[in-house]
Amino acid sequence: MADKLKDELRDRMSGPLPYARGELVDVDFGALGRGQARVGQTLLEAARDLRVDIDHFCGGRCSCGTCRVKIVGEPRHLSRRDLNEEVTLGIQAQQRGDRLACQAVVLGPVKVEVPRFFNA
Ligand code: FES
Repeated sequence: MADKLKDELRDRMSGPLPYARGELVDVDFGALGRGQARVGQTLLEAARDLRVDIDHFCGGRCSCGTCRVKIVGEPRHLSRRDLNEEVTLGIQAQQRGDRLACQAVVLGPVKVEVPRFFNA
C-alpha cells in the first residue's frame, strides 16, 4: 500500500521525491499560522492538523474552489495539478500558480497565502 502511494506521488511530480513519505517538513500558511506537515498529506489536511482555517465548502472533493491558496514558496514541493484541479481552478488561477489545498500533496517545505473570499 505504501509503495503504491509513493508511486502515485512520483507520478504526480516531475522529479524524484526530495523528501521521504511521512517525513516532517515546514509548512507556512502566512498570517494564519505555520508548523509541520508530513510528506504525503494534502495542504488541507496539514492546515486542519495545525488548526489553520481554510475554507473547504465541498469537503475536499475538488468541486468548490474555496480552498484555493497562493503558492509563495517552492511550487515543486507540491504534487502536480491533475485535470480535475485544473478545471475547478480555472485558467486565471492556474496562470497565477494557485492551487487547491485539498488536492495539493505536500512533498517538501512549502509556503502559501490563504486568500479570504467570504470574510471581511
Ligand atoms: S475543498 Fe472544495 S475544492 Fe477543495
